[in-house]
Amino acid sequence: MAEKRILLIVGGGIAAYKSLELTRLLRKAGVAVRPILTKAGAEFVTPLSLSALAEDKVYSQLFSLTDEAEMGHIELSRSADLVVVAPATADLMAKAAQGLASDLASTTLLATDKAVLMAPAMNVRMWEHAATRRNLAILRADGVTFVGPDEGAMACGEYGPGRMAEPPAIFEAIMAMLGGTARPLAGKRALVTAGPTVEAIDPVRMLTNRSSGKQGYAIASSLAALGAEVTLVSGPTALPAPAGVKRVDVESARDMLAACEAALPADVAVCVAAVADWRPADASAGKIKKTGKAAEPIALVENPDILASLSKGARRPRLVIGFAAETNDLEAHAKAKLARKGCDWIVANDVSIAGTMGGDQNAVALVSADGIERWERMAKGEVARRLAERIAAQFA
Ligand SMILES: Cc1cc2nc3c(=O)[nH]c(=O)nc-3n(C[C@H](O)[C@H](O)[C@H](O)COP(=O)(O)O)c2cc1C
Repeated sequence: MAEKRILLIVGGGIAAYKSLELTRLLRKAGVAVRPILTKAGAEFVTPLSLSALAEDKVYSQLFSLTDEAEMGHIELSRSADLVVVAPATADLMAKAAQGLASDLASTTLLATDKAVLMAPAMNVRMWEHAATRRNLAILRADGVTFVGPDEGAMACGEYGPGRMAEPPAIFEAIMAMLGGTARPLAGKRALVTAGPTVEAIDPVRMLTNRSSGKQGYAIASSLAALGAEVTLVSGPTALPAPAGVKRVDVESARDMLAACEAALPADVAVCVAAVADWRPADASAGKIKKTGKAAEPIALVENPDILASLSKGARRPRLVIGFAAETNDLEAHAKAKLARKGCDWIVANDVSIAGTMGGDQNAVALVSADGIERWERMAKGEVARRLAERIAAQFA
């Protein structure tokens, strides 16, 4: 990657702060980053931060005699191997779709002869507006590649698609486009489970849990980025299927087990789903009515243990990894689970930390026969990337 150069256009959105982290990841990988910061972008991050992290000058002005003398806007647009727009605001997307060239960023996008990757970030209504949909379709037709946006809570207080993809996901998309992604898992089959399961009480009520699926989806995405053929067996979530991943939608634990067995053989299974331990013994065929008396207790029976079934089954994947969500005695429980389930690694996560369940960060410990390794708290995308690299190392 040492020879590769990115032209990074940072637009005017709250997510601009994530582009600082993206710059750091790129520099760490040896990729040169030349930043263009729009006027609006400079309202959110300073040229100094961007310049310090990029270790390069920040370009902002179209009409700058010095810049033109040093490097004209045409040369700037062609000096990179890839142009990345992050955050790609509604405004930048609209300008690029219409071929406007009213500032340095839009002029560069019009003048470039290089591939363009955009990471959109905007309020959900802006993202869903007919004008943005039109611009997206035009840009796609023009050959622009997109990463994200993700769905989730926004700085504006609303919820939905429009959040910029996390820096590790943008980094992976960049690496894939630069052709620099090592594909050590090419030819390997991976099975990942994610999300909650849903157990019917009656046709309208259910038992479920707070799993968002984010960690499992990120792992499926990272394994695919390393070349694995990934089947993602997912309970109901609000997430889009990661690029290049086959998603199988299920509801109950029993459905999930059947879908996992159907996805075998696999070289590696990563069981991230929060599978309901119990289900109602007899789901009522009709809606249970109030009677005015005390409600009948709901008898529960244990669900099949998917992790143990995969670990102990005849078609056991070579590497079986389970997740353990714990609220106390994290490592002791994880070690016990490792022995009980017969899997190879347990990724123990401390869900007592506010914001882990459903949030974007995770603090995990990797438990195996070799011992325990604690990872610092990091973005779920980063946990996924590291885990995928560990899995690849196991198969090397
Ligand atoms: C606090 C604040 C946050 C904003 N966040 C976004 C955003 O996330 N996405 C977006 O498209 N526009 C956002 N805008 C509007 C843009 O900043 C505005 O459209 C600007 O002209 C975009 O400039 P650019 O083309 O340089 O990105 C925001 C504006 C404000 C004041």
